[in-house]
Amino acid sequence: MKKGYNIAIDGPAGAGKSTIARRIAKELNFIYVDTGAMYRAMALYLIRKGMEPADTKGIAGACREAEISIKYQDGEQVVLLDGENVNAYLRTEEVGNMASYSSMVPEVREKLVELQQKLAASADVVMDGRDIGTVVLPGADVKVYLTASSATRAKRRYLELQEKGETADLAVIEQDIIDRDYRDMHREHSPLRQAEDAVLVDSSDLTIEEVVERIKSLCG
Ligand code: DC
Repeated sequence: MKKGYNIAIDGPAGAGKSTIARRIAKELNFIYVDTGAMYRAMALYLIRKGMEPADTKGIAGACREAEISIKYQDGEQVVLLDGENVNAYLRTEEVGNMASYSSMVPEVREKLVELQQKLAASADVVMDGRDIGTVVLPGADVKVYLTASSATRAKRRYLELQEKGETADLAVIEQDIIDRDYRDMHREHSPLRQAEDAVLVDSSDLTIEEVVERIKSLCG
């Protein structure tokens, strides 16, 4: 089977990966694969099973039974957990926090990486995550490491929450981002790092359009 054209975008939480990847996918008529949502769906499964984030052994066993798959509806990725559309439950702090722990467990990663590789082999994809250029798609046609300062990322998250009418503390958000970065970058398995052949894009002082154009210009 001919491999699809693969664009890999990695980077820390809040760098704008999903916004950018979604835009590029739309403009190039590619499929957008949000791998963070898969880790979040697994985290939701584990929360529903009553697992504790620190129970690595329990998570390694329980994750085998979770049936995670994805489908596309009106161009949007829908994550199915045991057949149920769980998109609406994935973006909470509780799920994000569990995902940041459960994604350290090798059994969880193995299962989701296999699903991601299958998707990329059969279609043109823009895939975002933490280990796409390094582990999932080492042979990707284009690799980008998208980042932004923790202050910029905290400000974006703060404005997002304000828009939803939620109160938030900027300093707490920034500390949370710094802690999550540390966990993502220092875990034993597939830590977040820039692949040697990835292009570094710092979005701190760029508009969404500028980042999209920069990445599109890398696609030959
Ligand atoms: O990008 P996100 O916030 O939706 O990701 C949720 C968690 O999953 C985050 O802690 C990092 C982890 N993750 C990962 O380990 N590997 C990926 N390819 C994507 C996400």
